[in-house]
Amino acid sequence: MNKELVLEMKNIVKTFPGVKALDGANLNAYRGRAMALMGENGAGKSTLMKIMTGIYEKDSGEVIYNKESVVFKDSKDSQNSGIAIIHQELNLISELSITENIFLGRELTNSWGKIDWNLMHKEAREMLDMINIGDSEKKLIKELTIGTMQMVEIAKALSQNAKLIVMDEPTDALTDKETESLFKVIRNLKKEGKSIIYISHRLKEIPEICEDITILRDGKFVCEAEVKDIDENFIIEKMVGRTLTEQFPHVKVKLGKEVLRVENLNGKKVKNSSFSIREGEVLGFAGLMGSGRTELARTVYGYTKSSSGKIFIDNKEIKINSAKDGVKNGIAYVSEDRKGDGLILDLSVMENMTLSSLNKISSTFKINKKNEIIEVEDYIKKFNIKTPHIYQIIKNLSGGNQQKVAIAKALLTNPKVLILDEPTRGVDVGAKKEIYDVINKLKKEGLSIIIISSEMPEILGLSDRILVLHEQKIMNDFPIEEATQEKIMRNAVGVK
Ligand SMILES: Nc1ncnc2c1ncn2[C@@H]1O[C@H](COP(=O)(O)OP(=O)(O)OP(=O)(O)O)[C@@H](O)[C@H]1O
Ligand SMILES: [Mg+2]
Repeated sequence: MNKELVLEMKNIVKTFPGVKALDGANLNAYRGRAMALMGENGAGKSTLMKIMTGIYEKDSGEVIYNKESVVFKDSKDSQNSGIAIIHQELNLISELSITENIFLGRELTNSWGKIDWNLMHKEAREMLDMINIGDSEKKLIKELTIGTMQMVEIAKALSQNAKLIVMDEPTDALTDKETESLFKVIRNLKKEGKSIIYISHRLKEIPEICEDITILRDGKFVCEAEVKDIDENFIIEKMVGRTLTEQFPHVKVKLGKEVLRVENLNGKKVKNSSFSIREGEVLGFAGLMGSGRTELARTVYGYTKSSSGKIFIDNKEIKINSAKDGVKNGIAYVSEDRKGDGLILDLSVMENMTLSSLNKISSTFKINKKNEIIEVEDYIKKFNIKTPHIYQIIKNLSGGNQQKVAIAKALLTNPKVLILDEPTRGVDVGAKKEIYDVINKLKKEGLSIIIISSEMPEILGLSDRILVLHEQKIMNDFPIEEATQEKIMRNAVGVK
């Protein structure tokens, strides 16, 4: 079959102060096909897409769209030419409804020129049905789960009836079911002759949904291939420029004393939960979306108030009424929603990392700026965080590097118990391995770690013990030696 080129990006170069984000990047998109765009965190994928859609200006290179050389002035301009982009960061206004968000800036009007709410609600409903979202179109964004928000973002792009649709990590926050709905939509779009550019760190998705693949490394074009001709190892090797050894080297350390004990905890979406964790132990929270893993973690940490139950640290009962109490007692939590409540996007790497530890440091001593800088730079090295310097504004870092900053920020509070909620969401294979290595290192140092993850291999590969939740209750709690994927799944769906 002949492939018809819709988009050609050639030799794109883009420099930000102190960063060469793109250094000769190429990308094609073909009619009726999906092109996967892969590369490590910071490889330049999002930047390339922002250049294509007119959000950023390139330093040099050429963009050819529908056989014509183009330069889009801004995203409106590219939209008018039939290009839609679903950004990696959610771009929704939380105080507005789903309908209002979908039609923001291009409201539909009736023949009198007045905004036609009925029509917009109707069309929004059709979009939501298409992607299997049951929530009312009149619901406010802030009332939705992150996954549904992401689906609304997708609906918004679909409603533009674009010919070329860019999806920058669309499944990052989606459940398996939501992902399946999205894939169905993508298949239909392809049948209609539309082109997709698909960015994802989930290797398994690529053969399922993409025909072609382009790999970038350090802002440079590495290769383009047809997905049917290559395999996972090829992708990883081209992405990281080396072969990766075993993903999960499970480290067994001698467990120390009990650090945290939770007894009969109740609260919002937490039902009579009891568990404990020892020094050097990694406890995995498994369960389906909505099973209450995050709520349990947040209640232990103090982000959500408990209604009854006891929490002990080092065998002493502590009172936790707010997240501050959690930090004070040595419990740190890294949110699954790093953009929403983990990081402050307009502050620098340095400011973000020291945000939670600031209180602690300044209450005992005057803030020791020099020590702080050393600590921050230590973490940048230890986690291999890609940033030109510590004063870089965090939103200018790539997604995966932001996640590493969020983990470093929690560690700077010197916790006894570190809770990581979906720590590798949106993180590339290379950086994932780095985060796993960090977890193992911290474990050897005696830290107690709770990991919440929807990725089964991650839970199985890192945990010493696994706790499975079902409908906000702990169904089972067992050592890793007894764990199998099947057993966890059974418990997760409520079978003992
Ligand atoms: N507005 C900006 N100002 C300064 N630097 C930036 C800006 N946007 C991106 N960068 C830098 O450019 C490089 C490429 O970033 P980009 O976001 O394109 O990576 P990515 O491939 O999308 O990564 P990820 O998989 O983590 O999303 C990174 O080093 C990033 O820090
Ligand atoms: Mg990106």
